[in-house]
Amino acid sequence: MTHDKAPKSPNPIWGGRFSTTPAEIMERINTSIGFDKRLYRQDIRASQIHCSMLISQGIISPEDGTAILQGLEQILQEITEGRFVFKTEFEDIHMNVEARLADLIGSAAGYLHTARSRNDQVATDLRLWIRDAIDSIHQAATHLQRTLLDQAERHADTVMPGFTHLQAAQPITFGHHLMAYVEMIERDLSRLADTRLRLNESPLGAAALAGTSFPIDRHYTARELGFHQPCLNSIDAVSDRDFAIEFLSDAALCAVHLSRLAEELVLWASTPFQFIYLSDSFTSGSSIMPQKRNPDAAELIRAKSGRVIGALQSLLVLMKGLPLAYVKDLQEDKVQVFEAADALTVCLTAMAGMITDMSVNTEVMRAACNGNLTATDLADWLVMKARIPFRQSHAKVGNIVKLADERCCTLKDLTIADMQKIEPAITNDVYRVLDIDNSVRSRTSFGGTAPANVLIAVGEARRRLLAKDGERGRAERRDETET
Ligand code: ARG
Repeated sequence: MTHDKAPKSPNPIWGGRFSTTPAEIMERINTSIGFDKRLYRQDIRASQIHCSMLISQGIISPEDGTAILQGLEQILQEITEGRFVFKTEFEDIHMNVEARLADLIGSAAGYLHTARSRNDQVATDLRLWIRDAIDSIHQAATHLQRTLLDQAERHADTVMPGFTHLQAAQPITFGHHLMAYVEMIERDLSRLADTRLRLNESPLGAAALAGTSFPIDRHYTARELGFHQPCLNSIDAVSDRDFAIEFLSDAALCAVHLSRLAEELVLWASTPFQFIYLSDSFTSGSSIMPQKRNPDAAELIRAKSGRVIGALQSLLVLMKGLPLAYVKDLQEDKVQVFEAADALTVCLTAMAGMITDMSVNTEVMRAACNGNLTATDLADWLVMKARIPFRQSHAKVGNIVKLADERCCTLKDLTIADMQKIEPAITNDVYRVLDIDNSVRSRTSFGGTAPANVLIAVGEARRRLLAKDGERGRAERRDETET
């Protein structure tokens, strides 16, 4: 196999000990600017803070420092306005920024990299990026929770069959079913918050791996970047990506929750079910069958969870054989993090849209409860009314169901006389017990499906969300007054 002959001038940033530039294929395998340019905001911010620290510690002159700070600001503007030319020959975001800084301010640019390395730089950038990603995922996930709460409240007393083994099991309320997802997302959020807390330490100043002999102030840079402290060990700071793995694991779990909800939407919207109607905005037609409305958004949410799970797996495999400290394999971590964050964000947002727009065929749901879904209610009633042990009442009700099956009818179509032949304690009240609405109304045990419970759960979840908004607002105001 051949590749292009390398031209003759080495990389201006680390080329001192090199006499030729890399082979073309080396440049291709080595470059990460195609994806890590997404770190530009975090990279420039961290460089600005690093530079201010170098000035205030007397490590670089205020003149050079000011030129660097101004240059960085200009680069930020060029990138946000789409005027910046990213170059693969400068490998990654860090060297692209630094090379442009040299274009803008000349040799003073060379002072910026004092007392740091790309190793602590990239670890810092990625932590900052994931922190931002967690914050925006938090927004998207709480928005989804709100849409679920609205529908749950609207359908607090809408009855539907609850399933086990995908067999109609007992009547439940649709509101209660939706609230199950509010709980799942709440745990996803709490996992992300935990991850955020643990990742919020600053690698900056760990330098290549050993720290530095310059009198830097890592506490200052950590504080200014919103980290609660500097990472305690310089080798750990540059070599672990457990924070990214935790993020991916949280994201994968959340994506799995969304995928299950997506699967239910697909099922409920299917022609035989018709429990719900998804809006035109989230469905597509068929190019051949004019009658079709396909739940594409839900199917894609189900599919994209695979990407997020894959990202977690990839990063775990990437990490497992790596010696300390930095190795180039770590460059690929970002591909997984970006992929997962993008997929999860689009899934959360599309799910919120679908839930908001979804309409519910309450009559179809009710009709689907028309099997013998209240057979358990009858068995429970016999325990309470006639003091029959549950195992026996279960067997008796089994016999009653069998009788109904033989007559091709349901329990409520049987006469009292028929039922009394199997259990004499049964009275006329049985029809009240077999009623679907009475059944769900009776499920008032803590966390049960009763409409009254659903309304309380919705109210509590709303209060929880409001309280968290308040906390975030207070934290943001605190951050603003501190900076
Ligand atoms: N682009 C690299 C990455 O993302 C930056 C760190 C490079 N460090 C090095 N020692 N070559 O990992």
